[in-house]
Amino acid sequence: MAEFEPVLSRNWNVPDSRTLKVYESRGGYQAARKALTTMDPDQVVSLVKDSELRGRGGAGFPCGLKWSFLPKDRKETLMCINGDESEPSTFNNRLLIERDPHQFIEGIAIACFATRASTAYLYLRFEYINGYRIMEEAIAEARAAGHLGKNIYGSGFDLDIWVHRGAGAYICGEETGLIESLEGKRGWPRIKPPFPAIEGAFRKPTVVNNVETLCCVPHIIERGADWFKSIGTPKSYGPKLYCVSGHVNKQVCVELPLGVTCRELIDKHAGGVWKGRKAKAAVPGGISMGLLSAEELDTPLDFDGLRKPGCLGLGTAAVTVMDDHTSMVDYLYNCARFFAHESCGQCTPCREGTAWMYKTLKRIKAGGGRLEDLDILVNMANNLGIIPGTTICGLADGAAWPVKNVLAKFRGEFEDYIKTHQNPKYAVTPLQER
Ligand code: NAI
Ligand code: SF4
Repeated sequence: MAEFEPVLSRNWNVPDSRTLKVYESRGGYQAARKALTTMDPDQVVSLVKDSELRGRGGAGFPCGLKWSFLPKDRKETLMCINGDESEPSTFNNRLLIERDPHQFIEGIAIACFATRASTAYLYLRFEYINGYRIMEEAIAEARAAGHLGKNIYGSGFDLDIWVHRGAGAYICGEETGLIESLEGKRGWPRIKPPFPAIEGAFRKPTVVNNVETLCCVPHIIERGADWFKSIGTPKSYGPKLYCVSGHVNKQVCVELPLGVTCRELIDKHAGGVWKGRKAKAAVPGGISMGLLSAEELDTPLDFDGLRKPGCLGLGTAAVTVMDDHTSMVDYLYNCARFFAHESCGQCTPCREGTAWMYKTLKRIKAGGGRLEDLDILVNMANNLGIIPGTTICGLADGAAWPVKNVLAKFRGEFEDYIKTHQNPKYAVTPLQER
């Protein structure tokens, strides 16, 4: 098999990679020029559809298909790029923005041309202050050089990109929460349908794509759908940026074909588990996606390989490694605290369920746990996320997964913990807890 050649990260280690001069000297903006001057928008959509590029934000929804959902008779289209990147341990978009902003702008330009959007909003995670400055500079450079603005390359196509900073809420990474926040409102997700493609920002047809998804687009234009499909595994094509963090010797973000295993990422790319220890578990793609035990580390990390009991999917492909000294009680407590804090509170099962799971785990951790709490937790998790239509967005489901998953795989550890950590100060009866 031919050796894999990184494309998304190919400029990352080139000095001044964020400047237009360097980007153009390495072939940058040729794909945009080709798309805008030799193709029509529908041809670009067809090519991206043929490549079977799946969204890199987490859900893996086919990108070209999403573009084709836009109403044919629309008068205006908006593009929202989801750069909120709030899933814990996920930092691939941050690197794409900070190290090669023009690749990203080129992807936005082609996607906007394909979907006939003349305005693009980049919704950027609040904490990405450097990324914000870098994007503003790069957009100004691109505009001055004619890659953005009016009548780009004489094609008659106009495009402006506006950067909008978030305010630090996880829920604003959910596409309709993002849209509400962009409109200046509280970031409360909307009921879907209508999907944003039909009615999105400012009630107009809107495409919401992730940063990495759009960074793939110039390469598909340049090299074709067959090239893209020659990388990865069936139905999970193309290159992917995998983040590896936690208890490893080297925290990395590495570009590889879709479908590598957690074990390969840990041993070959992240220098192995730190302190000479063994892995106990790894979160394969964000805490809402479930967890792999040490025995499952050879599972391919692609969109479908992870859809199985115990895992929800690839998610953001941000692998967090836990060594064999890690307490799963601490891990689950942290997950529950996170989701209880980040639930927007609109839906009763999510608002109440995340809070109760957190309270119960806090009590267990403090020494007031009862064995029956474990069944209660599973029951709460089952009622939180699996009943379709009881919550507006996927956060409830995401909050339920770690609880179901960790207790299915590490229940013995929780039982031992409860038996050996009894502190009368925290012991409660069910009535008191209420
Ligand atoms: P989803 O599966 O509901 O939707 C995926 C995309 O496809 C959306 O853009 C949606 O509008 C579109 N879509 C789906 N069906 C459609 C239809 N019939 N017509 C038109 N458009 C349609 O998933 P969701 O809730 O948007 O995303 C969940 C994922 O987000 C999770 O898998 C999680 O991994 C990921 N996530 C990522 C984070 C990050 O930091 N990157 C943070 C939190 C979650
Ligand atoms: Fe808000 Fe949770 Fe409902 Fe999503 S599921 S809208 S986060 S309350």
